[in-house]
Formats: sequence, C-alpha cells, structure tokens
Amino acid sequence: MVTTLLDRIGLLVTNDPTLGDGSALGQLADAALVVDARGTVSWAGPSAQAPAADVRLDAGGRCVVPGFVDSHAHLVFAGDRAAEFTARMSGQPYAAGGIRTTVAATRDAPDEVLAANLARLVAELRRQGTTTVEIKSGYGLTVHDESRALALARAHTDETTFLGAHVVPPEYADDPSAYVDLVTGPMLDACGPYARWIDVFCEDGAFDSDAARAVLTAGLARGLGARVHANQLGPGPGVQLACELGAASADHCTHLDDVDVAALADSATVATLLPGVEFSTRSPYPDARRLLAAGVTVALATDCNPGSCYTSSMPFCIALAVREMRMTPAEALWAATAGGAAALRRTDVGRLAPGSRADLVLLDAPSYVHLAYRPGVPLVTDVWAGRPPAT
Ligand code: NIG
Ligand code: FE
Repeated sequence: MVTTLLDRIGLLVTNDPTLGDGSALGQLADAALVVDARGTVSWAGPSAQAPAADVRLDAGGRCVVPGFVDSHAHLVFAGDRAAEFTARMSGQPYAAGGIRTTVAATRDAPDEVLAANLARLVAELRRQGTTTVEIKSGYGLTVHDESRALALARAHTDETTFLGAHVVPPEYADDPSAYVDLVTGPMLDACGPYARWIDVFCEDGAFDSDAARAVLTAGLARGLGARVHANQLGPGPGVQLACELGAASADHCTHLDDVDVAALADSATVATLLPGVEFSTRSPYPDARRLLAAGVTVALATDCNPGSCYTSSMPFCIALAVREMRMTPAEALWAATAGGAAALRRTDVGRLAPGSRADLVLLDAPSYVHLAYRPGVPLVTDVWAGRPPAT
C-alpha cells in the first residue's frame, strides 16, 4: 500500500470553492493531487508545492475532474425496445406503458442474463467516467423479481433504489390499490434489506399523489431515503410531494410551475435533470436556467434504461445540458459530479479535495469545456475509482 502523486495536471477541478480560483468548480491550473493508501485524496494544490509520495504518475497536462456521479439509472433488465425508439423518431409519443414490455422480458430472464447485462452496463458507465452509480429496481414488479434485481444491483453499488412503484403490472390492472398494498407491505419487506432508497413514478398512467405518498412514507418508515420520478410527462404533484417529504431528489422536473420551483428552492431536494430522456423521446427539455436562477441545486444523470433513454454516457448528458438546456459547461460539470453527490446525500464523492475519495477522470483535453465542445468524442482516457487503474 503506497501513496500516489498524480502530477502535471493541466487543469484540476476540485469542486471545492476554497481551493484554486474560488469558483464553485475550485479550479487549479498546473496542479497535482496526492492519494493515500486507502484511496482518499490527502492533498490537492499547485504542482510546484506537491509533497513527495511513493509513486509519481504524470497526467501529461490533461484535465482531471471528479468521477461522474450518476444518481439515476435503471440497469437491471432484459430485452430491447429499439423498435419503440424508431417509432418515436417518426412521431409516436413516449408512453409509460412501454415499461411493461421490459417487465415481461425481465421476469422471463434467468439471473445470469440479468447479471451479465448489468455488469456490461456498469462497465460501460465506468469507461465513460462514472465512478458512483445509483441503480434502481422497477422491471420485476413481483416480490421475487424486485428483490432479485436489488440483490444483483447491490453487487455493484451501495446506492440501490427500490422502485416497485414503477407502474402497476398487468396482473393488478383491475385493482391498482392492491398493488400499492403489495409494494408497501411484502415487497418492501423483501426489498428493504437490499435498498438504500425508495422511489415512485408519480405520473398519470403510473401512480397518483395518494399512492405515491403511501409508497414513500412506507419506505421512509423503514429507514430508506426518498426519491421521486416527478413531473416528467406533464404537470403533477410529484415535485411538491418530494419536497414535502424531504426526498433527496426529484427527478426529471420537465413540467414545472412556479409553485414547484419555489418548493424546490425552499427545500433540500435536488432537481435531477435527465436530458438524455428528452433527446431520446423528442420532448421539450426542462428549464434548467429557471431552476438555477431560483437557487435550486441541480444534478444531471443519465436515466440509463431501455425505454426512455438508453445512454450510459454522462459526457453526452453534459453536452446536451450545455447545448439544449443552456447550462454553462461549468454548471453542467458541477451538476454531473457534485450535484449527483448532493442528490445521493454523499459528501465523499463528487469532489477532489482532501478527505474525498480519489474517484477521478483524466480527460484527453486541456479543459472540461471540451466535454461539451467535442460532443461524442471519447475524451475519457483514464478512470480512477479510489486508485489508478490496474493497481
Ligand atoms: O425514468 N419514467 C419512468 N421510468 C423511466 C423509463 C422507463 C422505461 O420506459 O422503461 C424513466 O424515464
Ligand atoms: Fe428513471
């Protein structure tokens, strides 16, 4: 076990405003970083002042940013909905009912198939710079299939989310309240031990305000944290419910009125924007500028899932946030790192300051601006999850 000095960083983003240029990104030019034997950052500062370490690695002038924190992903599933995407691109609207297609394929899939698809996707995210990922259930919708999804997800992350309340499955179509009873009773009993969070899709065609409240309060009573799929397809009660119940995050936030924005601004609930969804469903993007102007904490996440958005790429989402939602490159990078950490109530990730995990990305670029300036280009050259790759 050794200490490692990562030296000759052209531009280091720390997300600590007390370091570097004093901006939210805490940027330092010609910087260096020391990582201790436990994989924790022990020092960050100008290269010229770097302390000695057991191993010295040369960043070659590249830009180093915190590893991306993807706080919203649905990675445990089987099947393919490319035909649905093709239909949308020629004018069909996105509908929540498509979730049931994936539920059927997921229920039919053996554990090994789900595990292999999950591992492939987690590796895909990692290659694109994501070092912390939240993974939801939600394509099983039986006690057995939801708990096996979470047990599989747990092998990859501590940030697991029970989303039994994704849609009402077909066998409960005539009695949706019985399904809510299942979710808040036996399903929560079986899934709670594998989950850190509980989530609900609060939307027309999924769960209304009363059902969503019942799901979230049952999860909170079991010690899970709350997060909500809110105001995605139209205006609705999800965002205000999330704020009222102290949810860590309200996700999507595409259709907001002034009361929703004020509720977010007055709460500790993060607004997690998922611009890959609007790209992949040909829908209007959320108004990020309005949220930022109101002082709301904004996160960016991929929402990687086989239906509304099948990208695993945070750099792509950053490019969309800048081009389509008019976030500055600095705001978008912060939202994809520190914002995602806030949405998961984590202080050990999403930054590169003394005490944080050495989760970082080396970009083959002089600046993080290139993440948006060079869309679609694989700029992520190395990803450290606590330590250099292959050590
Ligand atoms: O976050 N909105 C609900 N759930 C997912 C989509 C799931 C699907 O279409 O399979 C989402 O967009
Ligand atoms: Fe989602």
